[in-house]
Amino acid sequence: VAAAACGGAEAVRVPTRGRASDLGALLEEARRPHTKLVFLANPNNPTGTLLDRGELRSFLSELPAEVLCVLDEAYSEYAGEEPEGPALLAEGTPRLAVLRTFSKVYGLAALRIGYALASPDVADALDRVRPVFNVNQPAQEAALASLHEQEAIALRVRHAQGAREFLFEALADAGLPPEPPHANFVYADVPGGDGEGLARRLLEEEGVIIRALTGFGAPGAIRVTAGTDEENEIFAAALRSVLASA
Ligand SMILES: Cc1ncc(COP(=O)(O)O)c(C=O)c1O
Repeated sequence: VAAAACGGAEAVRVPTRGRASDLGALLEEARRPHTKLVFLANPNNPTGTLLDRGELRSFLSELPAEVLCVLDEAYSEYAGEEPEGPALLAEGTPRLAVLRTFSKVYGLAALRIGYALASPDVADALDRVRPVFNVNQPAQEAALASLHEQEAIALRVRHAQGAREFLFEALADAGLPPEPPHANFVYADVPGGDGEGLARRLLEEEGVIIRALTGFGAPGAIRVTAGTDEENEIFAAALRSVLASA
């Protein structure tokens, strides 16, 4: 939304259907005159849902010819079934750009490096402005070096997948309906609908920071990011303790 404002564009937010991206509603908005770009995160943040492959393909095939779809696959490595963005591009899907980042599983967020996969046309447009906004050389070197560490990355992914299952169970046991996670965090609804209140109590009474989701338009929900095993245990105990004294 901020990027759209910088470029003088109007950002139109399309509500989710339940916790998942609403491709039907997005398509309807995309068909409105003057739409230039649709932005879709897969897996989605903060709900952690993954798009159905068939539904995404049919969405892309129905997108108006002048609309570019940007698929943000920042959490792709954590998904059990890797999102198909790169494969869709390799098949020649038109009007598609795929974003990936080194900020998540690669742990290089402070270096501000990621990349876009796109058709030659889109890459050419990006290249024209790239010199001004390009990522710096040390970040590029670090990213390239980290690509050779796939064993370590696989270990991190396995750990996060186990950790998110632990958090999913902890939230479900505590009566906060969680969404089956496909990224390195778990989304859950808070009974009574006060996500901010629960987050505040966890911080003030237990010293545990989670994310309340008012800023994402979900005031009744929280997002808990997978930490170390010890941190996840501390969160589960803190949640039990806060709810017991509610
Ligand atoms: C869906 C999504 N895309 C991108 C990012 C950030 O990526 P980067 O650090 O490369 O800007 C985040 C995380 O903050 C995210 O949740």
